[in-house]
Amino acid sequence: MKSHLHLACAALLGPLAVVQGAPQASTSSASPTTTSFVPSGGLGTAPTPVPVYNPMSDFDFASLTLTLYQEYIELDLFNHGLAMFSAQDFEDAGISAEDQYLIQFMGEQETGHAQLVTNILSPQNASTMCNYSYPFQTVRDFVDFSLKITRVGESGTFGFLEHLDSRASAALLLESISTESRQEMVFRQLEGLFPMPFWFTPAITQSMQWSWIAPYITSCPESNQRIQWQNFPALNVTNPPNASVLTNETMPAITHNRSTPLSQPGYQLNLTWDSPGKQVGPNNSYTTSTSAGAAKYAAWISQLNTTYTALDNLNGNSATTEQPGGNVFGNNTAPTVNGTIFVLIVDDNPYVTPFNLSLLNEHVVAGPALYVAG
Ligand SMILES: *[C@@H]1O[C@H](CO)[C@@H](O)[C@H](O)[C@H]1NC(C)=O
Ligand SMILES: *[C@@H]1O[C@H](CO)[C@@H](O)[C@H](O)[C@H]1NC(C)=O
Ligand SMILES: *[C@@H]1O[C@H](CO)[C@@H](O)[C@H](O)[C@H]1NC(C)=O
Ligand SMILES: *[C@@H]1O[C@H](CO)[C@@H](O)[C@H](O)[C@H]1NC(C)=O
Ligand SMILES: *[C@@H]1O[C@H](CO)[C@@H](O)[C@H](O)[C@H]1NC(C)=O
Ligand SMILES: *[C@@H]1O[C@H](CO)[C@@H](O)[C@H](O)[C@H]1NC(C)=O
Ligand SMILES: *[C@@H]1O[C@H](CO)[C@@H](O)[C@H](O)[C@H]1NC(C)=O
Ligand SMILES: *[C@@H]1O[C@H](CO)[C@@H](O)[C@H](O)[C@H]1NC(C)=O
Ligand SMILES: *[C@@H]1O[C@H](CO)[C@@H](O)[C@H](O)[C@H]1NC(C)=O
Ligand SMILES: *[C@@H]1O[C@H](CO)[C@@H](O)[C@H](O)[C@H]1NC(C)=O
Ligand SMILES: *[C@@H]1O[C@H](CO)[C@@H](O)[C@H](O)[C@H]1NC(C)=O
Ligand SMILES: *[C@@H]1O[C@H](CO)[C@@H](O)[C@H](O)[C@H]1NC(C)=O
Repeated sequence: MKSHLHLACAALLGPLAVVQGAPQASTSSASPTTTSFVPSGGLGTAPTPVPVYNPMSDFDFASLTLTLYQEYIELDLFNHGLAMFSAQDFEDAGISAEDQYLIQFMGEQETGHAQLVTNILSPQNASTMCNYSYPFQTVRDFVDFSLKITRVGESGTFGFLEHLDSRASAALLLESISTESRQEMVFRQLEGLFPMPFWFTPAITQSMQWSWIAPYITSCPESNQRIQWQNFPALNVTNPPNASVLTNETMPAITHNRSTPLSQPGYQLNLTWDSPGKQVGPNNSYTTSTSAGAAKYAAWISQLNTTYTALDNLNGNSATTEQPGGNVFGNNTAPTVNGTIFVLIVDDNPYVTPFNLSLLNEHVVAGPALYVAG
């Protein structure tokens, strides 16, 4: 009632003010016919230059090439999983014929995403499919691996999207990566997990993304572009919470509450990692490296946050650490660690935020490992 009255008064006072000879500017700024609707600022909204959907720097080219490798492994993976297991194997894991078609459709989405990135790079400069090897023997573990690889894809792309010189290309990539985020959620649901136990999807760097996927790529055509990003030594959580175990609480579903959490703050992780200098990736033609000093912390990249925990029982290339607590915005907000988290071994604990996360690369001793918390 009160606001109604207020509006009525304003309507009456408007014309009155004109009669009384108010300055022209104040009446024109209130008039819909003279409002421009185009606030100052913003980038790339003028008619010229017209958008060019091509890489504009080596950074763009190397980032998009990495994305293409990522799209191709996903395309291969989804089709491989469907071919490797029988319809009955899927049914036994609670994945119906219609769910199987959804996985097939996600493979078709990857064909489209690979086509898009190929067009941006130009077919002459675009890499093609490789051969791959996967660490699963069961439907549940296929779903678990697919959930991890789609998380790596979305977080890797989120990490560089806002840094691309070609903002036009970023606009197209955004439209494919948001679809990939839906795939990540579908795989969580097929694994019977809470579909999105976080408020924010974390970003990682290109080198973290490449370090994680390269070991699963066995060989690539000679005509492919070489990946320019770094391969960090591998990190292994030897006692991970295992989300793929099938129980009556982890049958595929839109969502599940678990009676016992997968892991909680204080859970002790046992970690082992490789030394640098190992041949990995396509044709074993990449070599792992690090510019970091001695291992000092575990870094946890999750939600908006990079959190560090102390390494205990440090002995050569092994140590233990504990899953941290903490909430994204303080008490009674989302826990920082829930869902699929990136864990790395680092030599220092610099304060980094999502837009300057690449400053962490020089401190990485090993990783990332993917840790399914919850
Ligand atoms: C291929 O990439 C190079 C730079 O790496 C660029 O100069 C060239 O124009 C690209 N070719 C096409 C057809 O876009
Ligand atoms: C992929 O593997 C097949 C079968 O081993 C082999 O014939 C082919 O050369 C490989 N292709 C590439 C690009 O590595
Ligand atoms: C990798 O190995 C495959 C299979 O032997 C071969 O066809 C391909 O040319 C090799 N790729 C590179 C980049 O050497
Ligand atoms: C990780 O550690 C476990 C337990 O020791 C071992 O079985 C597994 O092979 C290791 N994985 C890798 C990739 O090193
Ligand atoms: C984890 O590490 C602790 C301490 O070193 C050890 O006692 C325990 O057996 C390890 N657990 C596993 C599953 O490797
Ligand atoms: C989870 O356990 C299954 C056996 O139930 C095993 O095949 C799989 O490798 C385990 N996954 C992880 C991530 O340790
Ligand atoms: C799952 O089974 C256990 C016993 O095996 C039972 O206690 C529990 O209530 C069941 N949970 C659900 C969600 O059905
Ligand atoms: C699911 O878990 C939430 C959070 O712990 C709780 O508030 C809610 O009551 C649970 N719902 C059911 C149906 O178990
Ligand atoms: C997580 O990041 C947000 C945003 O930068 C910050 O406000 C918050 O304090 C951080 N939370 C923790 C537990 O570090
Ligand atoms: C958060 O919770 C802790 C423990 O209950 C309490 O000591 C602290 O004052 C709370 N912080 C804020 C900002 O409310
Ligand atoms: C990263 O950015 C934050 C501001 O968001 C800044 O406080 C921090 O010092 C930066 N980190 C480094 C290592 O420069
Ligand atoms: C993670 O999220 C799930 C789903 O909301 C919740 O049941 C679980 O308690 C959370 N775990 C932690 C450690 O907060």
